[in-house]
Amino acid sequence: MRALVTGAAGFLGSHMVDRLLGDGHRVIGVDNFLTGNDCNLEHLAREPRFEFLFHDITEEFDPGPVDLVFNMASPASPADYGAHGIETLMVGSCGTRNALEIAKKNRARFLHCSTSECYGDPMVHPQPETYWGNVNPIGPRSVYDEAKRFAEALIMAYHRYEKVDTRLVRIFNTYGPRLQANDGRVISNFLRQALNGEDLTIYGDGSQTRSFCYVSDQIEGQIRLMQSDEHTPVNIGNPVEFTILECAREVLAVTGSRSRMVFEPLPEDDPKQRRPDIAKARRLLGWEPEIELREGLQLTIPWFTASAASARENENGRVQGEDGKLPPRRETASRPRRTGYPLLDPRLAASSD
Ligand SMILES: NC(=O)c1ccc[n+]([C@@H]2O[C@H](COP(=O)([O-])OP(=O)(O)OC[C@H]3O[C@@H](n4cnc5c(N)ncnc54)[C@H](O)[C@@H]3O)[C@@H](O)[C@H]2O)c1
Repeated sequence: MRALVTGAAGFLGSHMVDRLLGDGHRVIGVDNFLTGNDCNLEHLAREPRFEFLFHDITEEFDPGPVDLVFNMASPASPADYGAHGIETLMVGSCGTRNALEIAKKNRARFLHCSTSECYGDPMVHPQPETYWGNVNPIGPRSVYDEAKRFAEALIMAYHRYEKVDTRLVRIFNTYGPRLQANDGRVISNFLRQALNGEDLTIYGDGSQTRSFCYVSDQIEGQIRLMQSDEHTPVNIGNPVEFTILECAREVLAVTGSRSRMVFEPLPEDDPKQRRPDIAKARRLLGWEPEIELREGLQLTIPWFTASAASARENENGRVQGEDGKLPPRRETASRPRRTGYPLLDPRLAASSD
């Protein structure tokens, strides 16, 4: 099959691309690098079954014939959607409509990455898909939460009125290699701080809870949902709940760091509890997570160690090797993007209809 992945240069998008290629599909990845990074795709530079289209999906485009559409493009971390509020609303609305139109034209299966943020600061715990949520529509997080809620409504409308074969996954906090080290989310903050020997920042008293899903479990759940005929939202996340303090202690144990914990005020609208009810995913998809937090952290550490080394290299200009010589300068994410993959010209793609 030929699959379209929007947000392919992001954390989850790039893992989905790898999984689809591994399953034998051809993949076209689309991204405008708003929050993603071409480093996440550079291992595919010589992969003939992968094409890349540099494009903002809020503008119409035509990727050619596709059988599957994975709509994963959107800033996802509070730091990113805080910095790109309007882009977040636009990709959730116009970007999602453009992806839906592609699915409609090609009679393709469509899967959209929604979020546990649809539940807001929940009054029901754990959160089943039937819970309608408690979202502040004008708070600082609303650009993300309401974009995702609008996208869900739009997708159900395309399903009901246009008969598009849609699926909705409500993703709960997911981590793993390729997570941005500076994205402000709990795991990335703690790992980065612990590995750098900095204090671990706890917001509030650390009694608020989160649940953390390892990326391979997340992708497996989404693949199974795409293969199913379920059109209403399905939670995919790890139901094992940790307080933020417990999570910090796990990170300290796994990294062997001697960092201390420091406490700062809780940000506005920060949810106090978050845990998925995954009964529906278990029943419909036979899915449940397999990787526990400690194992997932161990699998993630090498990525963060490499990111920290690369960040130090950027800060210092060039670092000296063990022999005292300077290594050759490497390309970094902040420099102009390389285009090693087979690249579609967006103007051609847009006019190939
Ligand atoms: N990672 C999580 O824990 C989590 C939780 C809930 C939901 N999600 C959802 O999963 C999806 C992927 O999240 P992620 O963690 O990989 O985030 P990410 O920021 O790493 O990836 C998102 C990608 O989308 C791209 N993008 C954004 N706007 C675009 C546009 N207009 N056109 C083209 N590309 C665009 C970005 O450049 C980036 O590569 C998002 O939809 C997010 O809302 C993620």
